[in-house]
Amino acid sequence: MPRKWRICMRDLIWTNLLDAGRLLTRILRAANAFPRHVAWMACICMAVPAMLTSLKTLGQALGVNPLEELIRGSGRWALIWLLVALAIAPLRSALVACARLGHWSYGRRMSDWNWFIRLRRQAGLACFSYAVIHLVLYVSLDIDCHWEELARDVSDKPYIGMGIAALLLLTPLAVTSTDAWMRRLERNWKRLHMLVYPAAVFSIAHFLLLSKPGIFDPFGYAMVLAGLLVYRLAEHCLHEAISHERIDGSVPERALEQEISITP
Ligand code: HEM
Repeated sequence: MPRKWRICMRDLIWTNLLDAGRLLTRILRAANAFPRHVAWMACICMAVPAMLTSLKTLGQALGVNPLEELIRGSGRWALIWLLVALAIAPLRSALVACARLGHWSYGRRMSDWNWFIRLRRQAGLACFSYAVIHLVLYVSLDIDCHWEELARDVSDKPYIGMGIAALLLLTPLAVTSTDAWMRRLERNWKRLHMLVYPAAVFSIAHFLLLSKPGIFDPFGYAMVLAGLLVYRLAEHCLHEAISHERIDGSVPERALEQEISITP
């Protein structure tokens, strides 16, 4: 390719990239200015898998075992939204770090991503809703509301117990996810919402135990959860170290506020 052409192409790509960057910055600013709209859009996106499955059910396109497809699909989406909810805080820290390193015109402050951190609530509620649908499908269609069968399943299949434990832990989190509960519980709200970690561990154990040998899907999810737990632990240790130093007087209070996001 002639040199002139190459320069022309490079300039074209560069200008388009800059334009795309400017557009993205505008979208992010707008997202921060209209958090309610973002929340609604997130809700609609999170409902899409359920809507598609409903359409497939109506069109009788769920394959040879529709019940298994429905139960497994709802369980899978419950787990996905749970992991998404857990990944939002580390993602925000990563985005802030990228913005600072790349000298972006927007996104260098934690508060620029307020709209993003609020999506945790939507993801958590989506997880809970899919998990409830999952349970309802299992109880109403799989075991036909025969409670003796449920009791037998709980004692014979350890994964059922794990699933129930996960859902029981998720329930208080869903109930207290409103602003009013956040204000009422104050500091205890954060403590209570740490239950999301054991809930995630039980959900993964549930998936691992029910999967047949040779199926490697659950290990992928388990690795994602392990990464998120390691991040949380590292963040906790860093926070502890900085607050100890702050007590000694060697780190100014503002540095602590800027560098650390304490999020469950
Ligand atoms: C009340 C509690 C629960 C019960 C009774 C329950 C029951 C079940 C059953 C019967 C299956 C299908 C097993 C099979 O086809 O062999 C299943 C699959 C599954 N469940 Fe649950 N579950 C519960 C809670 C949960 C929760 C809270 C999550 C995640 C947050 C979850 C995630 C999954 C996943 C990922 C699968 C497998 C999906 C796949 O194979 O693609 N379950 N569950």
